Amino acid sequence: MNLGVIGLGHVGLVTAVCFTEKGFRVFGMDKDSNKINTLKNKNIPFFEPGLKELLYKNFNRLEFTDKINVILENCEVIFLCVGTPPLPDGKADLSQVEDASREIAKNLERFTLVVEKSTVPVKTAEWIKKVMSLYVKKNVPYEVASNPEFLREGSAVKDFLEPDRVVVGVESERAKKIFEKIYEGFNAPIIFTDIETAEIIKHASNAFLATKISFINMIADLCEKTGADILKVSEAMGLDKRIGREFLNAGIGYGGSCFPKDVKAFYKIGEELGLDFELLKCVDRINERRIEIFIEKIKKVLWIIRDKTFAIYGLAFKPGTDDVREAPSTKIIKKLLEEGAFCRVYDPYAMENFKKEFKNNSRIYYSKDPYDAAKGSNAILILTEWEIFENLDYKKIKKLMETPIIIDGRNCLDMEKICKLDYIYVPVGRKGCGY
Ligand code: UGA
Repeated sequence: MNLGVIGLGHVGLVTAVCFTEKGFRVFGMDKDSNKINTLKNKNIPFFEPGLKELLYKNFNRLEFTDKINVILENCEVIFLCVGTPPLPDGKADLSQVEDASREIAKNLERFTLVVEKSTVPVKTAEWIKKVMSLYVKKNVPYEVASNPEFLREGSAVKDFLEPDRVVVGVESERAKKIFEKIYEGFNAPIIFTDIETAEIIKHASNAFLATKISFINMIADLCEKTGADILKVSEAMGLDKRIGREFLNAGIGYGGSCFPKDVKAFYKIGEELGLDFELLKCVDRINERRIEIFIEKIKKVLWIIRDKTFAIYGLAFKPGTDDVREAPSTKIIKKLLEEGAFCRVYDPYAMENFKKEFKNNSRIYYSKDPYDAAKGSNAILILTEWEIFENLDYKKIKKLMETPIIIDGRNCLDMEKICKLDYIYVPVGRKGCGY
């Protein structure tokens, strides 16, 4: 069975490449012909650990094209992985989903199973079916299904090949059998549901994880007010199997192309259906407040921001990726620049993407390494917990700085070690030192 993937962004490309690893022949399509050329030359347009190696290994089972008819001629199953970015009012923009559904319908010649994999609001499959029925030629059979992805950037390959569970929403025995075949080689439970349930499982999972993060951030604020320690709170709470330790890391809030967008889109769908999703509005509000709280923290130790120089450690929305979409770093740096600061930024992978957003701002200096970033700075701000920041020579760094202040937005440094070096160290949700 050949598989088709439409939309070769993060989700689509990982899906395409990982299915080849499971032995399938995969046809990947994207409208962007530059991207197709890049892929044909075995280059990947973003950083995702392990993906390039798999692409090289299975290249003979991969075909890239910018033509939809190539997919339809060769594939019985087509995964829709196009973008669903947020609209200004928080709803998901589904125009690319509509576009792809229409193009598939127009070119359909034989039975095809169309699978939504992009994160979409519940009832999107209904719309895909409606759109397809308007354009499809008479008597050509097709079906729609939902098979949401649960991939994290930075560990997407592993998440795909070793999933905790596979969720599939189908409407017929025929579609169910196809999925049983597709996921035969995966060692994971498959949850078969109706389509709406599968759509909700995806949104609800992301919203729940985001809720966990905002919850622990709220508790971190309480810890700061009372002198308690958030790391111990997370550790002890996490040992309760019903709660679990993951996604209880307090910090400067969640970013990326999923949580901020999905939480908003989820409560919007609630609103549309006359339901009160107040809880998720709070989750969103708490997350947006993290930026202000972090800026207030800087002001507590430095007083005035104007003309101060900040060494920024980390730009990506989390480690393991070069993605800066909705990254807390971009919001914090914007505020610092607005208040007249200079930023000496460093990130091992995300500098190029950050540059695209901030262009050549004369107040931003793109540093060669973390030591270069620290030169003449008034404070180091740790905004992404890249492992390399944990093991730097902070004795040497202190000598390079104008004033030895570290504000650790991700609680990633060894506080005892840093405090012994006589830094002013400000973590999140726990007592630091020197202030
Ligand atoms: C998230 C989900 O984890 C995936 O399961 C899902 O498939 C994906 O969205 C998606 O919808 O496509 P991702 O956005 O790649 O994956 O990243 P996460 O690892 O979930 O982290 C999201 C944000 O939360 C990051 O900014 C991270 O720094 C932050 N975070 C995470 C915390 O602040 N604290 C934590 O304890 C965990």
